[in-house]
Amino acid sequence: MWDFESENTKGFTHGFHTYPAMMIPQIAGKLISDFGTNANILLDPYCGSGTSLVEASIAGINSIGFDLNPLARLIAKVKTTPIELQSLKLHLHDFDDFLFSFRYGFKKTDSIICPDFARINFWFSKDVKQKLSIINNYIENIENVQISDFFKVALSQTIRETSWTRNNEFKLYKMSSEQIRSFKPDPFNKIAEVLGRNYLGLEEYISRRKENVSTALYDCNSCNYISKRKVPNSSVDIVVTSPPYGDSSTTVAYGQFSTLANQWLGFMENGRMLDKNLMGGIAAKRVKTFSSTVLNDIVNDISKKDIKRALDVVAFYSDYEKSIKNISNTIKSRGHACYVVSNRKVRGETVLTSEVTKEFFQKYGFSHIDTFTRKISGKRMPRQNSPSGNTGKKESLMNTEYIVIMQKI
Ligand SMILES: C[S@@+](CC[C@H](N)C(=O)[O-])C[C@H]1O[C@@H](n2cnc3c(N)ncnc32)[C@H](O)[C@@H]1O
Repeated sequence: MWDFESENTKGFTHGFHTYPAMMIPQIAGKLISDFGTNANILLDPYCGSGTSLVEASIAGINSIGFDLNPLARLIAKVKTTPIELQSLKLHLHDFDDFLFSFRYGFKKTDSIICPDFARINFWFSKDVKQKLSIINNYIENIENVQISDFFKVALSQTIRETSWTRNNEFKLYKMSSEQIRSFKPDPFNKIAEVLGRNYLGLEEYISRRKENVSTALYDCNSCNYISKRKVPNSSVDIVVTSPPYGDSSTTVAYGQFSTLANQWLGFMENGRMLDKNLMGGIAAKRVKTFSSTVLNDIVNDISKKDIKRALDVVAFYSDYEKSIKNISNTIKSRGHACYVVSNRKVRGETVLTSEVTKEFFQKYGFSHIDTFTRKISGKRMPRQNSPSGNTGKKESLMNTEYIVIMQKI
């Protein structure tokens, strides 16, 4: 029922940009239709590339998304913005002419400024760097912010696909010399392809998006504090979210994944710093007792094998609990929290995040409605890591997803 194996997950604006561990749009859509009838506000406190926000706007619900990654907020913003198509089309034609004049030497590259950030020459060939700079210079001169953001998303995807990073990895790994020798990307062709595809997606999205819905995006860390001005207490009807599976260093490194684009776009210098700010990024100093008995037992078992890994787990779930506490306050009585999570293995012990989520929400005044399971397929996320701590010994990380449904009493 929740597998959606043969469905197109890239319809509307969902296919604008790749992002790690994206939610399947059909899941967000079904959660909204099953638990968000008559909802006015949806919140996604870990919105990533904005899947649930796009689905909310199609269902006619206003939405609020939080993410600490500026690239994620940019993608989510562009995916939910109904840009004026006629004006966008004019810019796309003008951009085609602009590329043509460089491609055939009518315009010279002397005045083009190349960015200069750490290790840029390590990740890009001279030709790719120059072409990306030409594109970047064009984008910097677009006055309409919505249109310039639309181009930035396409540039970011182009950066990813034309750099020497291994595209099937979440962390920054360079291709082998052999792969580099046969890799001849053309950023001009790539961005033209991405822009064309995204234009069609946008057209489809605008035809389905309800009018007068709003989407707000904030650089907000719900583990610390949620501003009541942005999200008043008891104002949210439904939360639809997929939180990170664990800390960035042992699961998905969103900061590293986004580093090159964040650097090109001038958002930040160091993606590894971002990873430290994400949930569980700062190691805990000591083991603590949680309000979840399931979690306490697991932490106890892991600490007997490896205290350092136990402290990583403590750090992550301390932040997770604080976030759930703050989010609980924003939800209305009878409102729903729908969390898509995975159980992970640390040192051979399965951390039952689905159960922990349930117990944390119960502590903050919610009752458990149901937990649905689904097989993971076609989702960009790591299947194996080295939870045993032994290099080379990989264990299955996540194969099943759990959709935990809670309701505020
Ligand atoms: C699993 S991804 C969300 C993917 C999203 N559902 C989508 O479809 O693209 C989790 C997101 O949480 C963000 N994140 C991690 N810790 C955070 C925190 N403390 N506050 C806000 N966002 C955080 C990451 O940057 C990442 O984008």
